[in-house]
Amino acid sequence: MNKFLLVVLVLLTGCTMRPPEDISDHPVTGTYRFVEETEGNLSLVNDEMRVLVYQEFIRTFRLSKDPHYYFRPITILVNKEIGLPADFVPHDLIKTQVATSPRASNVMIRRDVNIALKTLFSAAKEEGMELWFQSGYRSYSVQKRLYQKYVDLYGEERANSFSAKPGHSEHQTGLAIDVTSPSASGKLVNDFGDSREGKWLAENAHTFGFIIRYPADKTEITGYIYEPWHLRYVGIELATYLFENGLVMEELDN
Ligand code: DAL
Ligand code: ZN
Repeated sequence: MNKFLLVVLVLLTGCTMRPPEDISDHPVTGTYRFVEETEGNLSLVNDEMRVLVYQEFIRTFRLSKDPHYYFRPITILVNKEIGLPADFVPHDLIKTQVATSPRASNVMIRRDVNIALKTLFSAAKEEGMELWFQSGYRSYSVQKRLYQKYVDLYGEERANSFSAKPGHSEHQTGLAIDVTSPSASGKLVNDFGDSREGKWLAENAHTFGFIIRYPADKTEITGYIYEPWHLRYVGIELATYLFENGLVMEELDN
């Protein structure tokens, strides 16, 4: 074979056969679930698929040069162990279009969550219930102030049972919403879980893509007290899977 051709062939083969970037070095590997954002394609991720989708993310990352693309999937897991970068801000925040409580603050939410919320709020209304949006996206710095306020008021241990440290709140993903109702006087209280609205949410939220993220019987696993008001959007498929199997996100296989 012509020497020149051989060199080209070796170079080409070398290129195509070079192993992909070592994903184990990457800070997000094994921590986040990488799935399609569109609900139609959403499915629980096994390792093989995760790697494949991960590589897709690497490609997109190279094209977009947007490191925050990694943190966009609607099934992202954020908890006491797994956090977000301080400067992470969701890319598609909008002001919510559902009814807000008179005391609502932080009324931004991701675009698709707003759409799902509108459907959920309308369905509740058809059943004769009124829901109020209380708190959606909270930036790292807002969460930092909030957490510190609770530490000052109640001490660190108690604060940790109901407030996430900055970088560890699902509210920073733009996928979590605290919901209340006029019947609960717009408060985020345990009684909301016993109200008609709270019970309806617990039974039906999954059909709109939401889960009650911190259920009463999973406090040991989530590390948080029962929060019947805290909804997390994960998409209909995963929400239904979690609901039907009585699982929280921590109980899914990575
Ligand atoms: N209340 C939840 C845990 C938060 O602070 O994000
Ligand atoms: Zn919340």
